[in-house]
Parts: sequence; structure tokens; C-alpha cells
Amino acid sequence: MAEDLHISVGTKEEQYQALLPQIRGLLEGEADLIANLANIAGALKEQFGWLWVGFYIVREEELVLGPFQGPVACTRIRYGKGVCGTSWKEAATLIVPDVEQFPGHIACSSLSKSEIVVPVIRDKIVKAVLDVDSTALNEFDAIDQRYLEAIIALISWP
Ligand code: SME
Repeated sequence: MAEDLHISVGTKEEQYQALLPQIRGLLEGEADLIANLANIAGALKEQFGWLWVGFYIVREEELVLGPFQGPVACTRIRYGKGVCGTSWKEAATLIVPDVEQFPGHIACSSLSKSEIVVPVIRDKIVKAVLDVDSTALNEFDAIDQRYLEAIIALISWP
């Protein structure tokens, strides 16, 4: 059984530093991909309180909604569309300080103001993306990118 998440205080970097080993511990004890994606989404949402944290998984020509925490969301996103589909196409992390300034942004919730999307890349192929949305403008920066990429690196993709 998983222990309760220890919610930490401090700077954003300190919060990530406290969270990272806890996520590592959660993943070490479980081989099931969906269970692990679900716990990553839960841990990030609990720690940071963002609007939406979740995964879209590559299924043929589309991203399909996977485990997430937050309001109900669009279920399918095409290659190259929106922030998520663009992150998939470019195989790169995208930080969007103001979603209204991102051409083609897909608004699943009108409350979302800024966003970061981190691709899960294995054998040079994008398998999924982690999408995080905030109700605040300019929420995400290089610190989020570094730690979210580190968290994504912990996932063993079958
Ligand atoms: N805003 C995303 C769509 C997913 S939701 O935000 C959960 C995009 O433009 O790809």
C-alpha cells in the first residue's frame, strides 16, 4: 500500500526536490504503466494544486486522454494540433506563458491560462505527453521543465 504523500513547503525547487524521491518510491513498487501515470498525476496535483495534470498517450495518429487529475478534458488531440500535439510533433518540451498567445491552443477549460507539456520519449519515439495547466499566467519555467523531465525519465515504458 502506498504511504500518504508528504506535502512539502518551500521554493518550487525545494518542493520538487522533496517530491522526486517520493515519486521514485511510488514507481519502484509497481510495474503497471497506467497505475504509475495515475500516481504521478495525483502526486503533482496534490503538491502544486495546479488546475490540471495528466497524460495523453500516443495511439496511432492521435493523442488519447490517459490518467489525469482535474476537470474533464478533450479526449483526442491530433498530431501537430494544440500545445500537446505540437510537443509530440517537435518531440520537445513546450512552455506556454499565456495560452491565448499560442496559435491553435486547445482550450479544454476556460480557466487554463498557462501550460507546460513534456513529451515521454523512448527509443527516439514520443510515447505520450505530460500536460500541466495552471489558472495563473506565466506559471511554468525552466525549473518546472527540468524536474518534470526528471520525473518523466523515471517511468519505465513497456
Ligand atoms: N491545452 C491543450 C489541450 C489539453 S488540455 O489543456 C487538458 C493543448 O492545447 O494541447
